[in-house]
Amino acid sequence: SRTATRTADGALAVGGLDVRTLADEYGTPAYLLDEEDFRARCRAWRTAFGPGADVFYAGKAFLCRAVVRWLTEEGLNLDVCSGGELATALSGGMPAARIAMHGNNKSRAELAKAVTSGVGRIVVDSFQEIERLAGIAAEHGVRQKVQIRATVGVEAHTHEFIATAHEDQKFGFSLTGGDAAEAVRAVLKHPESLELIGVHSHIGSQIFDMSGFEVSARRVVGLLADIRDEHGVELPEIDLGGGLGIAYTPEDDPREPHEIAKALAEIVGRECEAANLAVPRLSVEPGRAIVGPTAFTLYEVGTVKQLDGIRTYVSVDGGMSDNIRTALYDADYSVVLAGRASAAEPMLARVVGKHCESGDIVVRDAFLPSDLAPGDLLAVPATGAYCRSMASNYNQVPRPPVVAVKDGQARVLVRRETEEDLLRLDVG
Ligand code: LLP
Repeated sequence: SRTATRTADGALAVGGLDVRTLADEYGTPAYLLDEEDFRARCRAWRTAFGPGADVFYAGKAFLCRAVVRWLTEEGLNLDVCSGGELATALSGGMPAARIAMHGNNKSRAELAKAVTSGVGRIVVDSFQEIERLAGIAAEHGVRQKVQIRATVGVEAHTHEFIATAHEDQKFGFSLTGGDAAEAVRAVLKHPESLELIGVHSHIGSQIFDMSGFEVSARRVVGLLADIRDEHGVELPEIDLGGGLGIAYTPEDDPREPHEIAKALAEIVGRECEAANLAVPRLSVEPGRAIVGPTAFTLYEVGTVKQLDGIRTYVSVDGGMSDNIRTALYDADYSVVLAGRASAAEPMLARVVGKHCESGDIVVRDAFLPSDLAPGDLLAVPATGAYCRSMASNYNQVPRPPVVAVKDGQARVLVRRETEEDLLRLDVG
C-alpha cells in the first residue's frame, strides 16, 4: 500500500500506524486496509476514464459498507453479482442507478430485488434469464435497462480457472455461434419491460497484456454494427469488464489506469470508426486493480520448523481460510518481516497456515531472516482482493477483521468473527 513506511527501529507502519500497535489492538491475523490508497486508486481510475466513461468497482473483490461509501464519494459505480452484494451496496448508500447486476444464475428473488430497487442495469446471461427478467420487470411495471453478456472468444493469458471469455464456459452468449445476436432479438421482443442499452464482455482476471482487450473490443463493436444493420438501432453503451492485473511480487509489472484508459479509448474509437458507428459510452469493472494493493495481511509467527536438508516451515496464525488463492490458483505472494528489523542472513522458507491440510500454504517460497522466531509479525502484501471475500471458516476458524488505517487512525470496518459467531448458525 502507498502509505507503508518503516519506523525508526525498523517496524512496518501503515497510515502512520506501527503494525505492533495494530497487532496489540486488533489481534492477528488481520487485514489492514489503507483508506487513502483505496481512495487514490479510485480517483486514478475516475480521472483516467474521465466524464465520458464509467468505472464500476467489482464488489466481488472486497465489499463492505465503508467501501461502498468511499466508492460513492469518489464517483465510482458498483458491480454486484449476488443478492448479498446488492444488499451491501444499498445498505452502504450507493444510489441504485449506479449499480450493475451480474451473474449467470441470478435467482428470481435477486432479479426482483434488483428491479424494484432500480439498479442501473442488469447484465443478462442466458435465454431463460431474459424471459424471467422480462416477466419480473413487467410484474413490477418497470422498464429495466439491460446489457447482454457476450462471450468474445478471447482466452486471456491467466490461470485457466479465472479466464472467462473463451467459448467453453458458463458465462454469456457466444458471438461466433450466433447466440449473442439471438439474445438481442429476445430482449428486443420485450420493449415494454426491457431496454437494451449495450453489450458487455469480461475476458478474465489478473491480465497484464492489453491484446485480449483489443480482440474483445473489436468483437463487441462488431456486434453493435450487426445490431444496427439488423435492427436499425445503435446501442449507446459497451462494457469491457475488469481483469487488470496487479503486482503480487516484484516481477509483476501492471499497467496504470491512464495507460489502460488510453489504450481502450483508442481501440474502441478505431473500431467504431471502421464500422461507421458513433462511439458508445464505455465502462469498465476493475476489482482487484483497485482494492488488491491497498491491503496486507498481518500474521504472527507461531512456530519455525527446520527440516534438515529439506526446507524451513514458518507457521502463521491464519492460512487458507483467510487466503485461499495460493492453494486454489497457485498464486504467488511475497512476505516481509513486519514487527522489527533484522540483520540476520536470509533463509529460504515456506510460510504455511494453521489448517489441517498440507496444501495450506500462504507463501510458497520466501526469503526471511534466519533469526525469525515465534511472536514475530509477518506482512503479506496485496491481499485486498479476493482474500477476505473468499475467506472461509475451515476448521471452524473465525475470519479476521478488516481494519482501515488513515492519518494515524485505525477503524474496524468488518470485525473479527468470534467462536460465538460461528455457533450462532448452529441451531441443532
Ligand atoms: N467484471 C466481471 C463480470 C467479472 O466476472 C469480474 C471478475 C470482474 C469484473 C472483476 O475482475 P478483476 O478486475 O477483479 O480481475 N477469485 C479470483 C478472481 C475471480 C474473478 C471473477 N470475475 C481470484 O482470486 O483471482
